[in-house]
Amino acid sequence: MQTEDFDIRFATIKDIPAISRFGTPIVKSMKFYNKEHMRRNIYELSVKDLKDTFRTKDSIIIATTKEGKVVGFCVHYIGHGHVGWIDWLLVDDTLRKRGLGRALVNYAIRDAKRRGCHKVWCDSNPNNKNAKKFFTKMGFRKIGVAKRHAYGEDEIFWEKIIG
Ligand SMILES: CC(C)(COP(=O)(O)OP(=O)(O)OC[C@H]1O[C@@H](n2cnc3c(N)ncnc32)[C@H](O)[C@@H]1OP(=O)(O)O)[C@@H](O)C(=O)NCCC(=O)NCCS
Repeated sequence: MQTEDFDIRFATIKDIPAISRFGTPIVKSMKFYNKEHMRRNIYELSVKDLKDTFRTKDSIIIATTKEGKVVGFCVHYIGHGHVGWIDWLLVDDTLRKRGLGRALVNYAIRDAKRRGCHKVWCDSNPNNKNAKKFFTKMGFRKIGVAKRHAYGEDEIFWEKIIG
């Protein structure tokens, strides 16, 4: 199986229920978030909140099979000063390490470049070892660890210069 077997594209409003169904069980399996953070994550993957994200941030990127099934997604939006923020990044757990995460992030980076960004950044939980390996492989630089950050959890911030 190769990434050519999948389509990477911007989501439309019609994709929102499928993204919610896809993402919610994955995030529930990520046991390192505390209760408050988990509650918020689940809310952010609800159809209602994803629709708000769609309306206000406008860059939900999905990976689908050729049959149209959602198997990955991330969100990208432009922060101040031409720096893009990559939020979420979930890949179907049966399709990992086959290039889908890379394809989603590269799509977000192309979007950021097109919209005039010179840098993208993102965060991850320090207990998320897969994310650490992934972002390092993707050429992100670890900016540092913010202690007792959002929801009182430590948080790693990553950056990548793109232009
Ligand atoms: C992190 C995640 C998105 C990676 O997606 P993926 O599709 O498996 O990643 P890719 O196949 O595109 O990998 C890109 C590179 O990272 C490496 N990589 C990815 N996951 C890795 C892991 N767990 N251990 C070591 N290397 C890893 C790949 O080997 C690849 O390197 P290569 O190009 O040299 O072969 C996926 O594991 C996931 O959805 N995890 C759960 C959600 C999550 O933690 N999201 C990120 C933080 S919010």
